[in-house]
Amino acid sequence: MTLQFQPPPPDHVPPELIVDFDFFHIPEGVSDPAEIWHDLVRRGVPKIFYTPRNGGHWVLLDYADIVEAYRDHTVFSTYQTPIPPIEPFPVVQPQGVDPPEHNVFRRLLAPMFTPIAVRGMEKHLRERAVALLEEFSDKGECDFIADFAERYPTGTFLYLFGLPEERLDEFLDLANVFFRSTDPDERAKNIVDIYAVLEQLFREKEASPGEDIASAIVTARDKEGNQHDWTDILNCGFLLFVAGLDTVTNTMAYIWRYLATNPAARKHFRDRLDDPDAFLRAIEELMRINAVSNLYRRIQHDCEFRGVQFRQNDRVVLPNTVANRDPKVFADPQTIDLDRAVNVHVTFGVGPHRCVGSHLAKREVMVSLQEWLRRVPEFTLADDQPEHSVFGGSVMGFTGLKLTWDAAAQ
Ligand code: HEM
Repeated sequence: MTLQFQPPPPDHVPPELIVDFDFFHIPEGVSDPAEIWHDLVRRGVPKIFYTPRNGGHWVLLDYADIVEAYRDHTVFSTYQTPIPPIEPFPVVQPQGVDPPEHNVFRRLLAPMFTPIAVRGMEKHLRERAVALLEEFSDKGECDFIADFAERYPTGTFLYLFGLPEERLDEFLDLANVFFRSTDPDERAKNIVDIYAVLEQLFREKEASPGEDIASAIVTARDKEGNQHDWTDILNCGFLLFVAGLDTVTNTMAYIWRYLATNPAARKHFRDRLDDPDAFLRAIEELMRINAVSNLYRRIQHDCEFRGVQFRQNDRVVLPNTVANRDPKVFADPQTIDLDRAVNVHVTFGVGPHRCVGSHLAKREVMVSLQEWLRRVPEFTLADDQPEHSVFGGSVMGFTGLKLTWDAAAQ
């Protein structure tokens, strides 16, 4: 049977490059959302293909092509990329603008997230991980998502923005609607609510700046000595709110899920609790194998790429999870080697937009796992996992993950 799509694929797409693929849809029974991507590779679909789903878009599957798309903004733009297309879409700073305009907010943020800057946050990151863990570590069970993996990065956002921990539930509610709601009215209201909170926050920081990142953004000056455009300031706050929550939550979920089923890996980390370099190297490998983000690009002008005709405004998806298991780049790519020495994964992207928060994200995972293993050295998946608790899209992951352990024995 030939599937009929509305609208039909555009006429520059040859039929042999069309694959029916919906990366938002995770079929019943699939327990790891990344598997829908790896299934494409197993089926041997073209390395560059077009799917008419979600407004129609291309997918690149080769590491080398994905890296080129990340690097070459003259063809692959980050401006107005949402899938399915929504126009106009907030031009988030700096991710939604191409170089050289991109440099303005990139240069503003980068110094606040260097490895040294992040090391300066470690004491706070650790205290918060301990406080959260102490709420449930003696209970012998938790829903890892609700009890830890969502709360922790949201608390980090509050800390970065100089907001009190008491506002955690308010921000969790905003984030949960943003990431999970499929109701268009609820989503539209949610964006208005997030921007209203950011507006108030930046106004307060403008009047009374502190040592936090929100204050640094609102008090920064451009080349002429003026405050940055107010909309750009809000759009930068918005990006920082959304970029570091779902990504960290689901990276953690993948890592804890793997450790819950792998005693040797738990031991590997426990044996290296006091060796941060080896501990981080092992986390790096779990980040390679568990890349949660699928990035979007928009084609700037009609062109040919690797013999395939692209047209201006075509959307392209870059699945990091596929790039990170490309056998042309990674030896034995399906094997998790916690001592992998060379690890050029693209979990945080590459090129001009490479993740500003990557050092922070790794430190959040490291500190959380160290403190977790000190309190809960052994744990497994609970038998009663919530039904169909997985989702796809630009970030893939889990809505629930029940873990269990023998609290008396720890
Ligand atoms: C495991 C967690 C994370 C993952 C997997 C991740 C992934 C990514 C990726 C793939 C990009 C590249 C976007 C592109 O090329 O279009 C990116 C950009 C970005 N990320 Fe992250 N991220 C994570 C955590 C964070 C955190 C904690 C923050 C900050 C609080 C953050 C802030 C940003 C920002 C501001 C950008 C835009 C950079 C630019 O456009 O120059 N991310 N992230």
